[in-house]
Amino acid sequence: MKEVAAAVAGFVFVALPPACLAAGAELYATHCVACHQAEGEGTPGIAPALAGTFGTRVADAAGRDFLAQTLISGMSGAIVVQGQRYNGNMPSFAALSDASWRVSPITC
Ligand code: HEC
Repeated sequence: MKEVAAAVAGFVFVALPPACLAAGAELYATHCVACHQAEGEGTPGIAPALAGTFGTRVADAAGRDFLAQTLISGMSGAIVVQGQRYNGNMPSFAALSDASWRVSPITC
């Protein structure tokens, strides 16, 4: 899951090698774009923007753990992201293993 988070972040916000970007783009387009939108700008009142926070989170271990945990458990309850309030439901992606996503910083 950490590899998934890194690949998705690579697509959206962090410079990674082109192969990783392509893999991350596919993951993001398949599983995240409906709610978080094409540029990670989010859907007002529904799903928070990832742009602006994802890159810094993926840059340290605690942030990567948060991202992995969010993908594994999903998220619900009231939160404030970049000044906007949300109280939605993000589904769990625990069923998608790193292997099933076929991507990691090493293999992509
Ligand atoms: C069905 C809509 C939906 C999909 C699909 C979805 N999310 Fe979310 N996501 C949400 C919602 C809604 C929240 C906020 C939940 C809340 O209000 O507590 C959220 C929260 C998050 C957060 C935490 C944001 C923060 O700053 O605290 C991250 C990170 C995230 N999503 C990443 C992803 C990624 C990566 C994917 C694709 C693998 C994804 N999401 C797919 C709806 C979705």
